[in-house]
Amino acid sequence: MHLLVFIQGEWHLRTVHVLFGHLTAAFGLYLLHQYVQSSSTGSLIPVVHLAMAYLSSLFLSICRNSTNFLVMQKMHEQYGDLVRTGPNEISIFRPDGIELLDGYKSTNERDVWYDILHPRKALVFARKFGEMRELRASWSQAVSSKSVNEYSTRVIRLSDDLIECILSYRNEPVKLNDVMSWFSFDAMGEIAFSESFGMLENRQTKVELAHQRQALALLAPLNDATWIAHLGFSLFPYPGTVRAWWASVRFCCEIMEKRMASQSNKTDMANISAVVAGSDTTRASLIGIWYFLCKHPEHANKIYSEVQNIDVNDVHKLASLPHLNAVIKELLRLAPPAMTGSPRLTGPNGLWVGDRWIPAGVKVTAPKFVAHHLSSAFVHPTDFIPERWTTRPELVLDIRAYAPFSTGPHQCIGKSISFLEMRVVTTKIIQRFHVSFSHISGHKPEAFWADMKDQVTMMPGDTYCCFAQRSLP
Ligand code: HEM
Repeated sequence: MHLLVFIQGEWHLRTVHVLFGHLTAAFGLYLLHQYVQSSSTGSLIPVVHLAMAYLSSLFLSICRNSTNFLVMQKMHEQYGDLVRTGPNEISIFRPDGIELLDGYKSTNERDVWYDILHPRKALVFARKFGEMRELRASWSQAVSSKSVNEYSTRVIRLSDDLIECILSYRNEPVKLNDVMSWFSFDAMGEIAFSESFGMLENRQTKVELAHQRQALALLAPLNDATWIAHLGFSLFPYPGTVRAWWASVRFCCEIMEKRMASQSNKTDMANISAVVAGSDTTRASLIGIWYFLCKHPEHANKIYSEVQNIDVNDVHKLASLPHLNAVIKELLRLAPPAMTGSPRLTGPNGLWVGDRWIPAGVKVTAPKFVAHHLSSAFVHPTDFIPERWTTRPELVLDIRAYAPFSTGPHQCIGKSISFLEMRVVTTKIIQRFHVSFSHISGHKPEAFWADMKDQVTMMPGDTYCCFAQRSLP
């Protein structure tokens, strides 16, 4: 069946028909069996058991857990540069892997995973080049430097709210996962819809956005078999996580419709992709920055000496600070918010990887977490050395391996906005506080990696910090 039918074309959006086709065929076989053997109940039970055992092990082998970044790293260490990681899936672990998949010369298109919001359309989920070009054009004004300048005043205001929020903890440990999430969603509400979510002010996660996180957690194990998710969405829309998924999609649509109906002439993106792609990624990177700065306080001190005497509201100045920007780049190398994922299907002419050829229509991936840790691309690949981006360029052997925002026509459209947010938040906090890990109540900094989840975006383990106010000069 697989070789005759399912290997041809795409079936993920027809799962309900496929399921009912199978059930009808099974019922037909059962009736036939009844007809041939008059007493068949005895022999039917082992058949049902066998089928259940087969289906449960099939499902368990399809589903990956939320540590896919480690699974991929292990595959690379065990099997080399080009590994068959699924029945019709090849993973490329070479410095040029991301370029081969997404570079301007590539003819690969996005894999069926991107139909997850079907039939809704959004740039971040666009699969065909034509559709992507059209949707991307509508973004050009939203991410122009004039617009980014306008967003910067809102980002600065929100980072002041973040400082107030941190102060409200009054020396109690602050859970970074919460405050950075509140900041990044509040920022996206402001930038995308000119709407305040008020999460920093209320110190509370908006329930609809908690749903988005639950939805991403649901997607992670099904990354390689989204047909299971489509089947679940169609047949069982009510159980908790599936309901959370729809609540999160509905929230994005409603806020988008509200914005379109409003007469506001404030500059914003008015785009659903921004919520999905722009907030969770920035949350992950902001937690990461403080994890690495607490682990390596000498780099926080270096940034402090860069920002001590400048106006941190001058975002153009922040863009020119070498160590601040090197720290951000190095964080995005060691802990890229989009750790794995971004699967493609090889184009009509297949894909050459060195002297090896992958035929057309094969799913290919080049996990960023693995690429960023390749010893063929970076000297001391697992060490946090921001200077590799400034005074020690010899520590970067092959820059093609570095692509936290991807590359080519699919590369992130919100890169400048995310850099704006990371620079403003980091410098505002550094100017005001000494930050260190909290060890109170048994909080362990290692939880950042030990409990790390790769759920479409990076979900670090709980990270608690102490923020001690610097004495005024
Ligand atoms: C550190 C922060 C961020 C990282 C690491 C990041 C990373 C990425 C990556 C890897 C992609 C390619 C995804 C794929 O092809 O599957 C992407 C696409 C995208 N990102 Fe980001 N992103 C970040 C922040 C943002 C922000 C702040 C926004 C919006 C304001 C944004 C909007 C988008 C959009 C709309 C796309 C789809 C582009 C396209 O398909 O043409 N991102 N991002």
